[in-house]
Amino acid sequence: MMNYDSLALAAKQAKANSFSPYSKFRVGAAVLTRDGRIYTGCNVESSSYSLTLCAERTALCKAVSEGERAFKAIAIASDEKGYTSPCGACRQVINDLAGNVDVVLTNRSGKLKIVKVSKLLPKAFGADNLK
Ligand code: THU
Repeated sequence: MMNYDSLALAAKQAKANSFSPYSKFRVGAAVLTRDGRIYTGCNVESSSYSLTLCAERTALCKAVSEGERAFKAIAIASDEKGYTSPCGACRQVINDLAGNVDVVLTNRSGKLKIVKVSKLLPKAFGADNLK
């Protein structure tokens, strides 16, 4: 299995830029492209709470807006003791933009758990439905 330690570290480092004055819940994410590039993101909150951007979507949009289209994995880090799993909205967007990639969940002590998007979002709605 692929070693995702450096991707997990990039997600952890991205958490330092979290803009989360309301929830105080810091999240970082890092996406790995198929050719080995890493793009990072953090959660960016809005005073109109529902406009908040999660770390996963920030990282993915940064990558896509730089022209990236082929992905291998996305890692997520927070300050939680246990593993932080992407929210439902992010599962949809990860599947739309990155496909059935590895989702690398991390916990506070730096352990990794790898799960496929298809496991987190079974029977997904997607591009095929719009053909
Ligand atoms: N959040 C993320 O950035 N990613 C997740 O996977 C879970 C939730 C953010 C959104 C909000 O800024 C804060 O965490 C609390 O929900």
